[in-house]
Amino acid sequence: MVLQDKYAPNTNSAFEHYQAEHRLSIADTSAYWGEKAVTELDWFQGFDSVQQGGFLHGDVAWFVNGKLNTCYNCLDRWIEGRGDQTAILWEGDEPTDTKAITYRECLRKVCQISNALKAQGVKKGDCVTIYMPMMPEVSMVMLACARIGAYHSVIFAGFSADAIADRIEASGSKWVVTADEGLRGGKKLPLKAICDQAMAKDACRGVVEKCFVFARTSKTVNMETGRDVEFDSLVAAQRPYCPCEPMDSEDTLFILYTSGSTGKPKGVLHTVGGYSLYAKVTMKNSFDLKEDGSDVYACVADAGWITGHTYIVYGPLLNGTTTFMFESTPMYPDHGRYWDMVERHKINIFYTAPTAIRSLMRFGDDAPNKYDLSSLRILGTVGEPINPEAWRWYYEVIGRSNCAVADTYWQTETGGHVIANLPGAVPMKPGSCTLPCYGIDTVVLDPATGKELEGNCVEGVLAIKQPWPGMTRTCLGDHERYLTVYMKPYPGYYFPGDGCRRDEDGYIWITGRVDDVLNVSGHRIGTAEVESALVAHPAVSQAAVIGFPHEIKGEGIACYCTLTVGVEESDSLSKELKTAVRTAIGPFATPDLIIPTASLPMTRSGKIMRRVLRKIAAGESDQLGDVSTLADPTVVQVLIDKVEALQ
Ligand code: WT7
Repeated sequence: MVLQDKYAPNTNSAFEHYQAEHRLSIADTSAYWGEKAVTELDWFQGFDSVQQGGFLHGDVAWFVNGKLNTCYNCLDRWIEGRGDQTAILWEGDEPTDTKAITYRECLRKVCQISNALKAQGVKKGDCVTIYMPMMPEVSMVMLACARIGAYHSVIFAGFSADAIADRIEASGSKWVVTADEGLRGGKKLPLKAICDQAMAKDACRGVVEKCFVFARTSKTVNMETGRDVEFDSLVAAQRPYCPCEPMDSEDTLFILYTSGSTGKPKGVLHTVGGYSLYAKVTMKNSFDLKEDGSDVYACVADAGWITGHTYIVYGPLLNGTTTFMFESTPMYPDHGRYWDMVERHKINIFYTAPTAIRSLMRFGDDAPNKYDLSSLRILGTVGEPINPEAWRWYYEVIGRSNCAVADTYWQTETGGHVIANLPGAVPMKPGSCTLPCYGIDTVVLDPATGKELEGNCVEGVLAIKQPWPGMTRTCLGDHERYLTVYMKPYPGYYFPGDGCRRDEDGYIWITGRVDDVLNVSGHRIGTAEVESALVAHPAVSQAAVIGFPHEIKGEGIACYCTLTVGVEESDSLSKELKTAVRTAIGPFATPDLIIPTASLPMTRSGKIMRRVLRKIAAGESDQLGDVSTLADPTVVQVLIDKVEALQ
């Protein structure tokens, strides 16, 4: 655990130590983060003030006028002393396909990529779209953008051409970096072809100037003259040093699109200074990293999500540790893959999502028991509340009851963990993310009045009372939306959109989203996005999408669809509608249930009663509650029968 001497309390108890340090960190957040910024990051020029602005006006800024470069802090700073240490330990789709890239090698290649991007016209302040498989180059391109002051917009390689086109249009990104194909679980993903489709759409016309293509499988792909560039040879021809652009602390490091309650994804924006500091400090604390960088740390998420940004790329490298990158799936070639990797690479810290734990747990204990998992020290979980059963399996079978389980609550917008147990210091409770991180001032609000609920044993919505360095500063091109979604619901507080309970010990239990956002296998999907994909199909006149409890995914997607007059329901139509959603968003958003219906339960004022739809999909039709305000109560039984027939 990392503790500062000056805060050392007069006790040996690590928990009391945490409590004391946390109290101090929120009593004066500027003092706390100001000192961290100086000790944890290298600056080209010091900052004038630690923090200014606030939630109320949405004008938060950290480390004002300070100049630094995130890539410098990730790579250059470690060359002396850790140059020969592995920075990226990569394992490809096949277990035999591995690569260890040292800090020195990584810096050289990142410099070459930086020079290649510059040679092609990429400039400071440009947005670079990255649509890549989990090859080491994805991290390197992110770092190269940071080095030259361009900001990246990574799109998870499971998104469809439509989704890519929307994001390219919204960000005005002139540059796209991709690969010929991806490789996952023995299957090939035609990434360049999907990019081609995206770039051919009206939304992208005239936007994209260049598309840089790495070879992953070396398949021959369409290369449009003047636009597409074979990137490996161009990169190899570059000088292996590129100076770092001195960035203002508040310059943009990256944007990342995420779903909200409207159909349009938000470009969540993170900054150079604040995000980097927050990624570094939370990484070090939550995973109890060794200062000398000797840990082998594995986060098996994808770089395309915030978890990958903060805890595969930036957090580990800012701490000079070895970060493991995984291209494949937990099921390939069999469901022992994770544990095989832990044994072979002697992984000390392993970070995954409850959905993966649940799906592996189904196969029993034989697979994990076959492997030597004694290198493990800390097991992290993220993405959704972990059910106590999965927590226990993770703790007992994977951790041999000998590892700390770190339940890390956070979101794309928070940049890094905001509630998590400090391993070894904060006692664990299966299913609770426990207590706030340093510098995070959490409160529980009464959702109706917005008043803080004092004391323990209370339930309401979660909010954060003071700015922290890693928080998002705006939604790209739509600051009003940023204010509306996060700052206005409870003026003076940041509102993450989650409900929670504070138990008798002051521990936080997240109860789930309180907005129209689904959490499917830890992926955030807006119900409105799915609905607009469905109503875009000529057979659907109205759609209501809701989540229902799903054993593996946490939440499944149920789509109630009112069909256009004259259209008959059929299995093939249901399939078509599922495909429509996959095409609009991506395969990870595929609906679990399509429920065609003649009508939906509406109130007399014409509002769909989602509460009723949720109960029906959850198989809890005996708990529908008051349905007396429905315009036509008979539709309820029709839907109950339909859902029963489907399940
Ligand atoms: C939403 C954020 C943060 C990376 C992964 C998802 C839920 C996340 C936990 C947790 C309970 C969690 C929340 C949050 N969530 N972690 N440990 N316990 N709920 O990032 O796509 O931005 O989604 O995921 O509902 O708001 P995201």
